[in-house]
Amino acid sequence: MGNSGFLATLLLPTLLCVHLSVGSVTGLGVNWGTMATHKLPPETVVKMLKDNGIKKVKLFDADSNTMGALAGSDLEVMVAIPNDQLLAMNSYDRAKEWVKKNITLYNFKGGVNIKYVAVGNEPFLQTYNGSFVNTTFPALQNIQNALNDAGVGDTIKVTVPLNADVYNSPESNPVPSAGRFRTDISRPMSQIVDLLAKNGAPFTVNIYPFLSLYGNDDFPFNYAFFDGGNPIVDNKIQYTNVFDANFDTLVSALKAVGHGSMPIIIGEVGWPTDGDKNANMANAQRFYNGLFPRLAANTGTPLRPGYIEVYLFGLIDEDAKSIAPGNFERHWGIFRYDGQPKFPIDLSGQNQTKFLIGAKDVKYLKQQWCMFNPNAKNIGKLVDNINYACTFSDCTALGFGSSCNGLDANGNASYAFNMYYQVQNQKDTACSFQGISASKLKDQLKQNWK
Ligand SMILES: *[C@@H]1O[C@H](CO)[C@@H](O)[C@H](O)[C@H]1NC(C)=O
Ligand SMILES: *[C@@H]1O[C@H](CO)[C@@H](O)[C@H](O)[C@H]1NC(C)=O
Ligand SMILES: *[C@@H]1O[C@H](CO)[C@@H](O)[C@H](O)[C@H]1NC(C)=O
Ligand SMILES: *[C@@H]1O[C@H](CO)[C@@H](O)[C@H](O)[C@H]1NC(C)=O
Ligand SMILES: *[C@@H]1O[C@H](CO)[C@@H](O)[C@H](O)[C@H]1NC(C)=O
Repeated sequence: MGNSGFLATLLLPTLLCVHLSVGSVTGLGVNWGTMATHKLPPETVVKMLKDNGIKKVKLFDADSNTMGALAGSDLEVMVAIPNDQLLAMNSYDRAKEWVKKNITLYNFKGGVNIKYVAVGNEPFLQTYNGSFVNTTFPALQNIQNALNDAGVGDTIKVTVPLNADVYNSPESNPVPSAGRFRTDISRPMSQIVDLLAKNGAPFTVNIYPFLSLYGNDDFPFNYAFFDGGNPIVDNKIQYTNVFDANFDTLVSALKAVGHGSMPIIIGEVGWPTDGDKNANMANAQRFYNGLFPRLAANTGTPLRPGYIEVYLFGLIDEDAKSIAPGNFERHWGIFRYDGQPKFPIDLSGQNQTKFLIGAKDVKYLKQQWCMFNPNAKNIGKLVDNINYACTFSDCTALGFGSSCNGLDANGNASYAFNMYYQVQNQKDTACSFQGISASKLKDQLKQNWK
């Protein structure tokens, strides 16, 4: 993985009003994804977490640089085994080796405070066509046994972060109390849940009200938030938001397989800020302004009042993430690519207008940009060049409903060429595009871009 130590100035505005107060909802965690072209140094990220009073972090692997930075921080950590390693972990020897190198190695005083091992990440997503349906449970079992063998099974628990599409309620009776696990995965789901129960481990689910809205114009918009959606009524219980309804659908599905009181962790919840008509700062703020006060008040859901352990998705935008699920996929961060806060949010749930503390000592590239030259002769290849630039950089802000969708054709070309140029660390050769672009300095740029 490694870190370049430099961060492209991919975004221009600077936020001026940073209030320096600390505190977050008790136990609030964040997902720290690292699919970025210019990663912040892990030490910088760990400092940022501590500066903001965040005490728990969920990873998508067990990268040694990340783990090194977390050592001694006292942050509580969920490490992970990616889906492409699940098959390998069907061998008990490999599972033992994984635990030795990625758990035991860090398990000393002043080491990493590992609390959970996530085995796979949403392995039963329907888009994976069942690829991990037969390998997830054996991997989970092997890792749990290896943790037990290593003598840490009492303090470090396995879990499988699952997408909320592993359960549903029938179309004929779409209420939370009718929730059941999907029939095509009922066997692995009951094996998994039985094993979690036997080991006192939690069920982990990712719940995304944004995705309920995405691509479904019939979905009642306000129901995605926490401030007064049209209620649905289920056994006299009023549900005014899809988060509660979704969570309680899971509670019912667990109950139906004999584990109605199994602890549930929210592995991911959040709202993206670009890449779709509903992905913007205003909606994200509205969502978080509803979520954090509820978490702070331990409101819980109708079927599970009380504390819920929650990991936000996500910490920092990831400009190299696959956009197969949608253009919004690179814009989930509460921080921008450079570790600076996007908008005011109050993690303590007091609903105050304040900004998080940004990353310190971030190194930026020079303030220079690459632009399309409208006077260039050879513009026959313009479309090909734009496609090339956007394949190797992040142009998701240009799409329909996104923040830069209003640019004209020249603006589109400049945006694409510049994103590529920055991703390439401003190499001269990265701003040629067969002679139809030129690098310009900031002041000249200002006249052309808003
Ligand atoms: C430990 O985790 C890292 C990062 O996820 C992975 O690359 C490595 O293969 C793991 N080690 C073993 C012995 O499996
Ligand atoms: C799943 O199947 C569809 C349709 O057959 C295919 O387009 C897609 O690439 C498959 N996805 C995976 C992850 O195998
Ligand atoms: C999983 O196992 C079942 C039952 O043995 C089998 O029918 C199915 O094809 C397997 N799926 C995959 C993806 O290997
Ligand atoms: C938080 O503030 C917003 C306005 O900024 C308001 O709409 C919302 O109802 C408040 N939430 C709570 C729980 O006080
Ligand atoms: C700019 O690019 C976006 C995304 O590809 C596209 O939707 C839009 O129509 C383009 N605008 C012009 C004026 O070509």
